[in-house]
Amino acid sequence: MIGVLLLLLLLLPLFLYIAAPQVRKMLFSGVCTSTVQLPGKVAVVTGANTGIGKETAKELAQRGARVYLACRDVQKGELVAKEIQIMTGNQQVLVRKLDLADTKSIRAFAKDFLAEEKHLHILINNAGVMMCPYSKTADGFEMHMGVNHLGHFLLTHLLLEKLKESAPSRVVTVSSLAHHLGRIHFHNLQGEKFYNASLAYCHSKLANILFTQELARRLKGSGVTAYSVHPGTVNSELVRHSSFMKWMWWLFSFFIKTPQQGAQTSLYCAITEGLEILSGHHFSDCSVAWVSAQARNETIARRLWDVSCDLLGIPMD
Ligand SMILES: NC(=O)c1ccc[n+]([C@@H]2O[C@H](COP(=O)([O-])OP(=O)(O)OC[C@H]3O[C@@H](n4cnc5c(N)ncnc54)[C@H](OP(=O)(O)O)[C@@H]3O)[C@@H](O)[C@H]2O)c1
Ligand SMILES: *[C@@H]1O[C@H](CO)[C@@H](O)[C@H](O)[C@H]1NC(C)=O
Ligand SMILES: *[C@@H]1O[C@H](CO)[C@@H](O)[C@H](O)[C@H]1NC(C)=O
Repeated sequence: MIGVLLLLLLLLPLFLYIAAPQVRKMLFSGVCTSTVQLPGKVAVVTGANTGIGKETAKELAQRGARVYLACRDVQKGELVAKEIQIMTGNQQVLVRKLDLADTKSIRAFAKDFLAEEKHLHILINNAGVMMCPYSKTADGFEMHMGVNHLGHFLLTHLLLEKLKESAPSRVVTVSSLAHHLGRIHFHNLQGEKFYNASLAYCHSKLANILFTQELARRLKGSGVTAYSVHPGTVNSELVRHSSFMKWMWWLFSFFIKTPQQGAQTSLYCAITEGLEILSGHHFSDCSVAWVSAQARNETIARRLWDVSCDLLGIPMD
């Protein structure tokens, strides 16, 4: 009897291993089924050297776009570019240096990009950090707010004219379900008065949604549309700063999305035809998703926009 139980127990991991792909398919419905091809289109994906960004870049390259991998570590980026080139047969996969924790790097990236490219049709603001210990970017911004929100805010601002000239074009910003716990504390935006690494991540992901909404409002009629995304719970390197989360991710790795599954909603928002009327909306599993009351608040969105401009030295209009 005990022997049988023991055997079953031993077989359980094997069973899970075999069943995992089916379980994942059952749990996650969000697949981008669009057949749109992208020859002649230009895309930029931030944080494309690993995780969801890498898979998003691969999917775009697969459809024939010229894809820029905007990475802080160019060496890692080059390896991935080679890999994508070999897998997709698309040679137009290029790596450019972008450190979102340094506005000088962001400005240099944009300057070079604008000089070398005539068009930009798809910008995917994907890079992100989670639960890092209190630290600051080169410009003195708290790391989560600085990289996840302000870095992408500046990048989008610098590339906006090019996006407008290339319309129809899209800006997809990867946020998270974690935004539900987020609040924009205007008196403590840089976490100097109080700081909690988990909450700091949530605040920055709320900022991603507010940014997307305000951007969509401002871009109405321009042919540029904006979307925010929750990719799902995805097995990636995002949990690198927390051993507890690393352990949880490992334990549940059978049941969370692969990076390729995690890339589906970003891809969906970037390429699906006729999505323009939903500009400003938040998406999860390739459909419109509910956001928190904070995330729907236009007053907060406007104020965050102005404060971000102020912090980044961007003239307000
Ligand atoms: N995984 C999930 O369950 C989950 C859930 C909800 C939302 N998200 C969101 O999905 C997005 C992608 O995350 P992921 O899960 O794919 O995580 P990941 O595997 O850790 O990838 C994050 C990417 O961002 C890059 N990055 C970090 N700091 C940067 C900086 N200062 N400048 C430029 N690039 C930087 C990383 O580059 P390095 O490799 O050089 O560090 C990496 O390429 C993030 O915005 C995250 O918030 C993920
Ligand atoms: C950070 O906030 C989370 C969520 O409110 C809470 O569970 C956790 O205990 C807090 N951590 C610290 C160190 O205060
Ligand atoms: C939006 O947020 C502001 C400031 O927190 C608050 O005063 C206002 O009532 C909110 N508006 C809505 C519609 O919830």
